[in-house]
Amino acid sequence: MRRRHTFQRILLLLLPFIATAQLQKMEPTRHEESQVPAYTLPDPLVMEDGTPVAEAGQWSARRAELLEILSARQYGFAPPVPVSVKGKVVSEDSDALDGAATMKQVEVVLTHGDKSRTLGLLLFLPNAAAQPVPAFVGLNFFGNHTSHADPRIRLHGNWSPNNEALRVTDNRATEDSRGLRAHRWPAEEIIARGYALATVYAGDVDPDHEDGCKDGVHGLFGETDHTAPPEERWGTIAAWSWGLSRILDYMEESEPAVDGARVIALGHSRMGKAALWAGATDTRFAATISNNSGCVGAALHRRRFGERLVDINTNFPHWLNDRSKSFNERESDLPFDQHQLLALIAPRPLYVASAAEDLWADPKGEFLALLHAEPVWQLLGIRSDLPREMPDVGGSLTGPLGYHIRPGKHDLLSEDWVRFLDFTDRMAGS
Ligand code: GCU
Repeated sequence: MRRRHTFQRILLLLLPFIATAQLQKMEPTRHEESQVPAYTLPDPLVMEDGTPVAEAGQWSARRAELLEILSARQYGFAPPVPVSVKGKVVSEDSDALDGAATMKQVEVVLTHGDKSRTLGLLLFLPNAAAQPVPAFVGLNFFGNHTSHADPRIRLHGNWSPNNEALRVTDNRATEDSRGLRAHRWPAEEIIARGYALATVYAGDVDPDHEDGCKDGVHGLFGETDHTAPPEERWGTIAAWSWGLSRILDYMEESEPAVDGARVIALGHSRMGKAALWAGATDTRFAATISNNSGCVGAALHRRRFGERLVDINTNFPHWLNDRSKSFNERESDLPFDQHQLLALIAPRPLYVASAAEDLWADPKGEFLALLHAEPVWQLLGIRSDLPREMPDVGGSLTGPLGYHIRPGKHDLLSEDWVRFLDFTDRMAGS
C-alpha cells in the first residue's frame, strides 16, 4: 500500500516534466503555406476494401463505413439507446424584438431510466410568419442570456467556464454577462429574413471541462448502455452534437411554428465542430453551417497547419474519444481526413466559413476539405462546381456547397450571417 502511494507521489511530481517532454516533441505551429508537407488524402469514393464507389446507390454503404471510422477514431460513439424528450414551456412573450418575434423559453428534459438532464432552449419565432418557418439551431458558449440583452432570458444554473471578457469569474452565470455575445446571434436580422432562431447553452448539454466524460448528458447512461469499448466512446463534441439532435427532436414533435424538415445546424468554432458532426450523424438536419470550425471541424488534418490534433488532445482532452490520442502527431496514419466528415453531409447543403486572420483554424484547409468532399455531392446528382482555387479574402461561393472567407479575426459576425441567410434562402422550399 505504502509502496503504491510512494509510486503515485513520484508520478505526480514527474507529471509536469512528462507533459513538457511531450510538448517539446511537437513541431512548431505552422502558419506559412510553404511549411505544409506533401500529403495524400484518402478518397471518400473508395471503399475500405478498395472497391470504387462509382454509383449513387453505393454511397450509403460507403457513408456507413466513414461514419463508423470517424466515430471509432475521433468523436466517439454515443450510446445507441433512445431517451425521452419532453418540453415544458416556461415563458412565452409575443412582444420580443420590438414586436417582430415571439420569444419562448422551454425546458427540454431528456430522461433515460431514472436519470434526467434539462436543456434550456431559447427560441425566437417570427410573428409575421403564416406558415411553419425554417430554423437555425446552435449552441452558445456561455449561456442564453449572453446571446441577447432581453432581461427576460433566464440564467442557467450549470457550470460555466470563467472568462474575463464575459465577466464570469466563479464558474457561474451572472447578470453581468447579459447580451455580451449578442453580436454572434443577430436575432433581429434572422427574424426579419423569416427564420426562427434556437439556441441552448452548450454546458447544459455537456460542460466544457475534463471530467472523464461523466457529467452532462454522458451521465444519463450506464455501462450497459454502451456497445463501444471505453476508448471509442463519445467525447464532449459528440455529446454537443447529440444535444443538437435532441433539440431537433423537440422542435419536430412539439414546436408547430418551426418546420422540422428545414432545421439548420449551425455553430462557431468548437460549436462549429459540433454542428458538422451533428449534420454528419443526423440526416434530419436540412443543412449544416460551420463558422471558423478549424481542427476536427472543417480543416484538413494532413496539412498540419495551425491547430493540430495533438493540440486539441492536449488542451481539450475531453473533446474526442481516447482512441484519437493515438494519432497525435501522426496525421498521415489517420484512416480518414476531415473532407470525409464533410462528405457525410451530402447531398444536403453545407456551408463552411473562414476568417482571414484565423490562421489557427487553417482557412485554406477548411476550403480544401470542402473541395475534396465535392465529388460526393456530384455522385449524388447535385450540381456543384467549386473553383479549384480558394476565393480571395472577402470572396464567397454560393451553391449547394457554400464558402466564404471574410477579413478579420476568429468570430461569428453579422456579416457571416448575411451570407448564411443568402445560402439558406436558396434551399429548396425556403
Ligand atoms: C480554441 C481551440 C479551437 C476552438 C476555439 C473556439 O482556440 O483551440 O479548436 O475552435 O478555441 O472554440 O473558440
